[in-house]
Amino acid sequence: MADKTFLSPSLVAVGLRDPDGRPLPRWAAGSHVNLVLAEGLVRPYSLCGRTEDRGRWLVLVRRHGASRGGSDHVHDRLRAGDRIGYLGVLPGLTLAGAGRYTFVAGGAGVAPLIPLARLADAARRPWSLALFGHDARQVADWRELADLRHAVTVAREREDIASVLHDVRDGCAVYTCGPEPFVAAIDRVLADRPGVRLFRESFEPPAGAGGDSPAVDLVLARSKLSFSVPAGTSLNEGLRAMGVEVPVSCGAGFCGACAVRVLRGVPDHRDGLLDTGQRAANNVILTCVSRSRTPELVLDL
Ligand code: FES
Repeated sequence: MADKTFLSPSLVAVGLRDPDGRPLPRWAAGSHVNLVLAEGLVRPYSLCGRTEDRGRWLVLVRRHGASRGGSDHVHDRLRAGDRIGYLGVLPGLTLAGAGRYTFVAGGAGVAPLIPLARLADAARRPWSLALFGHDARQVADWRELADLRHAVTVAREREDIASVLHDVRDGCAVYTCGPEPFVAAIDRVLADRPGVRLFRESFEPPAGAGGDSPAVDLVLARSKLSFSVPAGTSLNEGLRAMGVEVPVSCGAGFCGACAVRVLRGVPDHRDGLLDTGQRAANNVILTCVSRSRTPELVLDL
């Protein structure tokens, strides 16, 4: 780890460099990286620095009240010079073509939106970034955002979501990332604007995910395997039980590591990552949390 900057008592920015000065792997705006913080402690984070900077990665880490060890480790124990590994960079949100972009961030959800906003800015498209959360002001004042500040606003109250989105019209793209209730609120505000594309990412699966999970029959087209995944068992666990390994990182439907192509059947999307277009297309499923609306799913495995 190269540097650590507290933006607020609960939000820290961590800069990462290769210890031998070698260039870091390329990444695209919206990507995640799985960081190996310590032995057995792997967590996905959105990269929020500059895509052209091969010398330094930057991530934001919010301390969670219910930390499973990752955020506490970063906040309390990680020091400049400590070694951190990574397991690879995964694609996340990508910038779709649109006439205008509105980025709406809930707390640390600003991380993947920063490089996407830079892309929109470089393309000379009209865009704005609204920051929500108790430390939104500190994020807005962060020097890493200095080049974007002209289009960044701070909104303090959740009730402002509707006003932030009031002028979003057909042909616009809205990108949001944050806690699931925040992202769901944006979803609701835009529900009656079919001409607006919503791209969403949340820190946890939507409400209802992991709840009712009936049995589903899986057919693996390439492996020529078919079997039933019992109720209460994730598709990923069912696959593993049959000796089919699908990578898992967050295990909660927000990083995309476990995505599999769907060839037939209709997924019951319970993740917080796929955008409205991807959900409607029904040709990919995040196997760690999602289920099936049809008795059978045929997967490209
Ligand atoms: S493992 Fe992260 S979305 Fe499934």
